[in-house]
Parts: sequence; C-alpha cells; structure tokens
Amino acid sequence: MPESTKSATLSFDGKQIELPMFTPTAGPEVVDIRKLYAQAGVFTYDPGFTSTASCDSTVTYIDGDAGILLHRGYPIDQLAEKSHFLEVCYLLLYGELPTAAQLEDFEHRVTHHTMIHEQMHNFFRGFRRDAHPMATMVGVVGAMSAFYHDSTDVSDPWQREVASIRLIAKMPTIAAMAYKYSIGQPFVYPRNDLDYAANFLHMCFSVPAQTYEVDPILARAMDRIFTLHADHEQNASTSTVRLASSSGANPFACIAAGIACLWGPAHGGANQACLEMLKEIGSVDRIPEFIERAKDKDDPFRLMGFGHRVYKNTDPRAKVLKQSADEVLDLMGVEDNELLRIAKELERIALNDDYFIDKKLFPNVDFYSGIILEAMGFPTSMFTPIFALARTVGWVSQWKEQIADPQMKIGRPRQLYLGELQRDYVDVEDR
Ligand code: SDX
Repeated sequence: MPESTKSATLSFDGKQIELPMFTPTAGPEVVDIRKLYAQAGVFTYDPGFTSTASCDSTVTYIDGDAGILLHRGYPIDQLAEKSHFLEVCYLLLYGELPTAAQLEDFEHRVTHHTMIHEQMHNFFRGFRRDAHPMATMVGVVGAMSAFYHDSTDVSDPWQREVASIRLIAKMPTIAAMAYKYSIGQPFVYPRNDLDYAANFLHMCFSVPAQTYEVDPILARAMDRIFTLHADHEQNASTSTVRLASSSGANPFACIAAGIACLWGPAHGGANQACLEMLKEIGSVDRIPEFIERAKDKDDPFRLMGFGHRVYKNTDPRAKVLKQSADEVLDLMGVEDNELLRIAKELERIALNDDYFIDKKLFPNVDFYSGIILEAMGFPTSMFTPIFALARTVGWVSQWKEQIADPQMKIGRPRQLYLGELQRDYVDVEDR
C-alpha cells in the first residue's frame, strides 16, 4: 500500500474523525474507512459500490471519462493490434510482457493442459440438450475441484499456479463441449498444433465427417475478441470471484461463481441480449420505437449493449470490435448484414439523442461482439460462454493477486437495517 500523505475529516454529532487518504498511481484518491466503525460507530452506505474501492490492484486500470483501458499499463488498443491472447494472459498473470522464451514456455504449458479428465465428459450428458451452455459451464467448472484435487490448496503457490494454467487451458475445451452437446454433435478433442483461438474454433466447428480448416482471419478475430474481454478491473463477476476466494474457497469454485455472475443480462449476458434486441427491432425503421421505450421510465426495456458503470465517454473495446465486425462480415460475405445495419443506425441515433448524451450511454463491449460472433456461426447462447472463456484469465489474475495479499480478509459487508425492532413471538391461534 502507498504511504498515506494526507487525511479527510469527518465531523458529525460533535465528533471529528480523521481518515487517512491514499494517492493511487492513476485514478481517484481513496479515503481509508477501515477503522471508521471502530472509531465513529457508523457504516458507509454504497449499494452497487458506485463510490467504493474494494481492494488495491495493479492488474487493470480504467479511466471512464477518457475511455482508457490499461492492462499492466499497456493500452487495450495496442494489445489488440500488436499482441495476442496468450501473451496478454501472461501479462495479466505475471505483470510483464514475456520474453520470447517465456512466451514459448507459457504457450507450451497451456497447450498441454487443454484436455479435460475423460470422466468429466459424463457431466455434460447429465444436462438436457437444450440446457443453456452457461448452466453447463457453471456445473462443469465447479466440478473441476472434484477432479483436480492436487491444485485446490490455495495456500500453496505451486498449486495456485497449476490451477491457473488448468483453468485458462481447459475453458475453451469446456465451452466448445457445451456447444457441441447442445447441438447433438460429438465432442472434438483439442489439437496441440493449433493456437488457442484456432483450437477453440476447431473444437466448435469441426465434425468427424469432413476436415475443417480454420480460417486465419476468423482465428485472428476470435483471438482479438478474447483479448478485448480478458479483464476489466473490479466488475461484478470479478468482485464475485474475489468475494468467494476471500473465504478460502478452491479456485474452481471461485471461477464457477464468477461464471454464474457474468451470466446476468446486465453484465456478460448483454451480448446475447443485445443481439436478441437487434433481432426484435428487426428493421431500421423500427429503431425510434425502441429508443422511446428505452427512455420511458415506466418501461423496463433498456438498450442492451449500451451504457456502462465506469465508461462515461466511450468503451475503447467497442471501438476495436467495430473494426473487427466490418472485417469478419466482409470475409463472411455478409457485409450487407441487416443486424449490423440496424446496429450502426441504432448507434448513430442513440449517440445524437439528448437522453443518451445526458446519461452518457453509448455502445459498450457487448454491442458489437454479438454481431461478430453471429457472423462467425455461433448461436446467441454461446456469446456469454465465450465472454466467460476470455474473462477467465482476468478472474484468475485478480484471484492470484488477492490470495497473495497479506491484507486479505474475508469479505463481509454490513447493512442499513430498516426492518422490525425486536418483538415477541405470537402463537398462531392469537394472530
Ligand atoms: C459489461 O463493469 C464492467 O466492467 C462490465 C463489463 C466488463 O468487461 O466486465 O464492461 C461488461 O457488463 C458491459 C455492460 C453490459 N450491459 C448492458 O449492455 C446492459 C444494458 N446496460 C445497462 O443495464 C446499464 O447501463 C449498466 C448496468 C451497464 C450500467 O448501469 P449503472 O451504471 O448502474 O447505471 P444505471 O442503471 O444507474 O443507469 C443510469 C441511468 C438510469 O436512468 P435514471 O434512473 O438516472 O433516470 O441511465 C439509464 C438508467 O435508466 N440507463 C439506460 C441504460 N443504461 C442505463 N437507459 C436505457 N438503456 C440503457 N442501456
């Protein structure tokens, strides 16, 4: 932790409390309230954690007003352009860009852990074929702790390292198996001669009946989508992983909790919800109707893929994805994609509408990712599993950082109680 060089004063009811402040390398200063309750007998109140730093971290930094996203200090647009997903994984996990030898060793370790225990195949067969792949992923990833006992002791740094590699390596295999199971096709084993993204496409789209050549442009787009979803500070699912891990739960249980949280339509489920919204809009001339619904306080409808808790200017990931969308749709010969046309017109209208301007709502990472994934041949039900696959490295990196933090305590928020004061039990005959 940095040295506290100044303090904030809180005064109420004749009391005056000095609270230390910390200055970050970037972003807002923080007021340390850890001793507030002991000193002043009061809690702070911040449902949704809009003004609360839950931890200190060195992994990712977001400047919501400037639309900046840094991973260990490197801007996301440079990483998306010049790096590739497994190198970004190394950067997030270990804090520095790897040398050529380090990268080769890391890629070899991940590549040789992509298969899952053969008996785990039975887990998939316990689900209905129409189960949402996210339900399958939550179940199978949680069950990994039943198969990989030798990497569940979070107090052992080596076991933490093994669990990290196993999770990053096996998530594409599990996601692809969930997809294959949902469409009644046989599972496809990973291949060590393919890179991470190409291997995932191979496990999803190849069939025994014919050879499948991974298109390098699609593999590059897939890799870029993974990179753009890798980590994002203390978002809801990452905070879920951190809270689960604060109790000492095993890494597979913590990541399964993160997958469950990511599933929500306000979070990682937004890419599926966004594409379903575009399909519901159906044509450019119906956009104004949906814009009005999004603005109607009495209508729960929201423009999926728009808005963000932190970004109040632009989501830098959406800008990169917008370029990828054009490339992939052009390759797939669907550049006249109606959904993309609706998406671009919806973006144009929304960005010129006072409601969205005033509330600082604009396309986020989920807005364009769904269009690309659909063009690549994925069903909407696979959009969030792909987000979970990519975010696994972010969850694992943040989990490793927290576990290694000597300050780590079990997360246990308090509350503003508005319920009944104590009262005596009344027998049913007297009620
Ligand atoms: C992700 O945290 C992360 O980093 C997440 C993520 C990551 O990488 O991990 O970036 C990934 O989850 C991106 C967000 C994907 N979700 C969606 O696209 C769903 C649609 N967006 C909204 O649900 C909403 O914008 C949130 C949840 C993303 C953010 O909500 P906030 O910050 O809690 O803001 P809010 O709900 O308080 O909204 C502020 C105002 C409200 O109006 P008022 O009550 O002030 O009058 O803006 C309105 C909202 O009604 N509003 C919207 C809107 N989003 C907010 N109105 C219409 N359409 C929307 N999409």
